[in-house]
Formats: sequence, structure tokens, C-alpha cells
Amino acid sequence: MNFEIHRVDVTTSTNDDVVRAAKNGAPEGYVVLAMQQKLGRGRMGRPWMSPAGNLYFSVLLKPSMPRQMWGTYSFVLAVAVGDAVKSFLPQASVELKWPNDVLVHEKKISGILLEAVDQGLVAGIGLNVLMTPDMSRCDVTSLAEEHEALPPFDNLLPTVLSHLDTWYARMNAEGFAPIRKAWEVSAYRGPLRVRLPDGRNVSGTFEGLEDDGALCLKTDKGEKEKIHSGDVFAGL
Ligand code: BTN
Repeated sequence: MNFEIHRVDVTTSTNDDVVRAAKNGAPEGYVVLAMQQKLGRGRMGRPWMSPAGNLYFSVLLKPSMPRQMWGTYSFVLAVAVGDAVKSFLPQASVELKWPNDVLVHEKKISGILLEAVDQGLVAGIGLNVLMTPDMSRCDVTSLAEEHEALPPFDNLLPTVLSHLDTWYARMNAEGFAPIRKAWEVSAYRGPLRVRLPDGRNVSGTFEGLEDDGALCLKTDKGEKEKIHSGDVFAGL
């Protein structure tokens, strides 16, 4: 993929910028990188605190797969960001939590937000580098908190994009199977709590990913439950 990087100091949300660019005919690989966001968004309409010091960018993808498979691109992004984080923190334990959170020592270091528009798929990535914004819902960390030598800030985006390029090409050429396998290898295997859209709570452990990317949970009662949407928390 050819990446075309547009760097800005401040914006509302890089996802908004890339959605707008997509509607105006931007090509695949169009990237907006912002030093700060004033209205950064997370999954389920939550805010994503975006002070200066962290990485915030969005990239326009034009997947070759049919639209009903686009949800599985979450895992492409998660595996790519996970690989990048492993390269930044070679000593750390880096794990993936469904659907696309990247954890370091069980704490969230990155979030990914996918938004589909007629012209393609906008993938927004936030990676905590120097700042560890408080998130009431989960434990959070940053590259700086993990106490390893920090890579120069300007190396972060090219590294993430290079892993994305590799995994995205694989997805387009071979389908979901290799991505699923790579995601499963890095899956967080500790206790999970899931809040389902109907308000039910289920606890269990990761059993695998389904062909469509759904989470297969082995519940504490020993049953298997297939989860298509919900809020998943690591730890007891
Ligand atoms: C989540 O874990 O809830 C997803 C967070 C996604 C945050 C990134 S930061 C860059 C891009 N712009 C946004 O407004 N959100 C995404």
C-alpha cells in the first residue's frame, strides 16, 4: 500500500478527517496523524482522551473482501499494532483482547476504532506513548510506563504502518485464516468478564475466534458461548 501521510498539530478526530477525505475521493493509504485530538472517539461512543505525547492516526483502507467480512479487519489492525508494540517493548508481555485491544502486562496500551463508509474502511489507532490517560473502565499503560528505552516518536507511525501493510496484504491474499491464527497465538488467556448488549454478564476464558471473528468464550459454567458484540474486561 502507498501511504500518504498528512500530519496536523490539532484536530477534532483523525477518524473524522479521514472519513471526510474518503468522501472527497482520497486513495487507499491516506493517513492523518495528529499530535492532539480535541474530540477523540473510542468504541461504543466513548471519548478517547488525546493529550499531546501519544500517537493518534487514522488510515483509509479499501478492502478487497466483501463488506460482510469487514469486521474481521479489526483483527488485522490488532495483530499489526500488537507486533509494533512487541518491537517497541521487546521484554514485555503483549496480548490481544477481543476484539482489538492491545494489552501490555494486562493493561490497555492501544485502542482501535473501525468505521465503514461507502468509500472504504477508516481505521483509527490510538497508542499511549508518553501519557497514560485515566480510563475508568480498565487499567491503562503507555510505552513510557513500561520503562524500556523509548523509540524516537517519528519511528512509531512508520513501524505501525509497516506491520499493517504486511498483515493487510496477507488478509487480502489469503483471507482471515492466517490473521485469526496470529491473533489467537497472542490472545489474552486470563479471566474475562463480558457485558452483553442485553445487560447480561458472563465470565469465562478465551476459547478461540469463530470464522466470522466472533469471540468463543468458555464460561465458568463450562459452556461455550459465541459473542458477537459486548464489552470485554480483562481480569476478575
Ligand atoms: C477504543 O479502544 O475504544 C478505540 C480508541 C480509538 C482511538 C483512536 S485515536 C485516533 C482515531 N481518532 C479517533 O477519534 N479515534 C481513533
